[in-house]
Amino acid sequence: MSAFAHIPVLVKETVEALAVEPGGRYIDCTLGAGGHAAAILEHSSPGGQLLGIDADPEAIKVAEAKLQAYSSSTLLINENFVNLQAICIKYDFQPVHGILFDLGLSSLQLDSNTRGFSFQHDAPLDMRLSPSQEITAADIINTSSEAELAHIIKTYGEEAYSRRIAHLIVQERPIAATLQLVQTIERAVGGRRARIHPATKTFQALRIAVNHELEYLEAALKQAINLLGFEGRLVVISYNSLEDRIVKQLMQRESKDCICPPGTPICICGHTACLRLITKRVITPSPVEVQLNPRSRSAKLRAAERIITQDESFKVAEKLNFLVGGKASGWRRPALLKKLRIAFSLP
Ligand SMILES: C[S@@+](CC[C@H](N)C(=O)[O-])C[C@H]1O[C@@H](n2cnc3c(N)ncnc32)[C@H](O)[C@@H]1O
Repeated sequence: MSAFAHIPVLVKETVEALAVEPGGRYIDCTLGAGGHAAAILEHSSPGGQLLGIDADPEAIKVAEAKLQAYSSSTLLINENFVNLQAICIKYDFQPVHGILFDLGLSSLQLDSNTRGFSFQHDAPLDMRLSPSQEITAADIINTSSEAELAHIIKTYGEEAYSRRIAHLIVQERPIAATLQLVQTIERAVGGRRARIHPATKTFQALRIAVNHELEYLEAALKQAINLLGFEGRLVVISYNSLEDRIVKQLMQRESKDCICPPGTPICICGHTACLRLITKRVITPSPVEVQLNPRSRSAKLRAAERIITQDESFKVAEKLNFLVGGKASGWRRPALLKKLRIAFSLP
């Protein structure tokens, strides 16, 4: 298959949301075939630097070839982005101007005849992003209890027929290949669903479970926020509602000064906003982009900007603690900013 068969999604919007500038330092946590990385490098030259991460060694090879012209400005690492902070410490790559997550799978993975991600062609039920992971989709299918399977399919696939599907899987296992699983799901669901392929949700659920996608995303986003310098941008493109919910909730929470439960008379959380939302509304591909690249149809881009860095927030906490005699919590944003200006002798 061609190394360039993956068409990157929302490229112009991503470069804009990252506010890519010459000389900037960026991290692409989901390098894939290097499409977004190439655009970031193009707009950040001269002087730009990019750390590219992908759990899939095949993706690293493909991206390496694509980004050859920028080899002196790139560092490509075959790792899981759940280790983002450790990677940045190891390679002394922080703080950064922007971090991108373009979640999900690349066409290189979806179209592969050996990886088992797609229900459209037969392959072993693998679904691991990296061959170094131990648990495959076949392991989950063939060793989980019926209740565990139903839970996975319902939670990660939001599949209404999860129990019916899990029941038939247990009856028919061992199941080793994708098409055998597809036929089992089709029999379980019958003619009940017309809008999407009956196996779509179960395949999504298995992939998420095999790769711990949701837990790793949440952990990596938190690390990413702390790696951003002042006004650094975090941009995330997600492809399903479970991913998008995590991104949306985290960005919203981190852009609020107070996260006390509604109705709390005085703020007791001491939380300080460290992000400003760049995308008040989610950005989606235009109808033209969807027509040219149908795989972009479910993409949702959200972006936020770091408004106070980790170092600064420590300093602020210290100063405020000093200024208000250890009673820093309870300050709402305008009051906090006023104190901050005085503390740092700002105009
Ligand atoms: C949609 S593709 C990215 C495509 C890329 N933006 C491009 O323009 O070619 C998503 C990539 O993220 C990688 N990926 C997904 N989850 C990951 C994780 N937890 N750690 C590292 N890479 C991950 C996948 O292996 C895949 O290559």
